[in-house]
Amino acid sequence: MEIPNIIIAVDGYSSTGKSTFAKMVAAQFGFLYLDSGAMYRGVTLAAMEAGLVKEGGEIDLPALEACLKDDPDLHFRNIEGETKLFLGSRCIEGEIRTLAVSSNVSPVSAIPFVRNFVDERLHLFSEGGRVIMDGRDIGTTVFPNAEVKIFMTADEKVRAQRRYDELVAKGDTPSFEEVLANLKERDYIDSHRETSPLRQAPDAYVMDNTFMTMHEELVWMLGLLQGKFNILEGALSC
Ligand code: DC
Repeated sequence: MEIPNIIIAVDGYSSTGKSTFAKMVAAQFGFLYLDSGAMYRGVTLAAMEAGLVKEGGEIDLPALEACLKDDPDLHFRNIEGETKLFLGSRCIEGEIRTLAVSSNVSPVSAIPFVRNFVDERLHLFSEGGRVIMDGRDIGTTVFPNAEVKIFMTADEKVRAQRRYDELVAKGDTPSFEEVLANLKERDYIDSHRETSPLRQAPDAYVMDNTFMTMHEELVWMLGLLQGKFNILEGALSC
């Protein structure tokens, strides 16, 4: 199926499976996958390692701004067909997914100069199009002209269970209540912050995947692309 070179923006609440979905679509239809949340997590990790996030979450704003101006060399690399985030020569995909980083990432990502830094990076890595990118504000702020916008949502407890399973598989030992509380807090911060709050773009297609399998998500996407780009390939006679 021939899909034109477009940008697909995937936004939605945390743990709705945005990145799994976007990676699957990228592999199926030959798109480059970019994870904007990973970039925010990378900035958070860099800030934590530099001692700029204090106990209790207080952030040293002037020092963080100076650190980003110095360019901490956060970049994506394609490793065997998968996009991974690097800090200099170090792959930080594992470290950016710990509960410690998850607990600090929402306040860090609410800082306007952090958002500008990440937006610039995302534009740089998307040059040429044919990209699928997931995040919170891709279809509303970063790429408001994206040809296809998807907004993902799912039941809160189902999302918390997904995140819990992911953390346990990685060796973390959180309680379910802790994960649920973290998720609710992030939902609140993400949708109430002043700069680029999480919002559904008016022209986004909404996917509630509480009861959907990955295969059903892919079929949903296939239908959307076929309809949108008129590539039904003779399936209908009218
Ligand atoms: O999708 P994620 O959980 O990896 O995202 C990590 C955090 O980054 C999340 O709390 C909100 C923030 N984020 C954002 O503010 N804007 C984006 N486009 C992507 C993520």
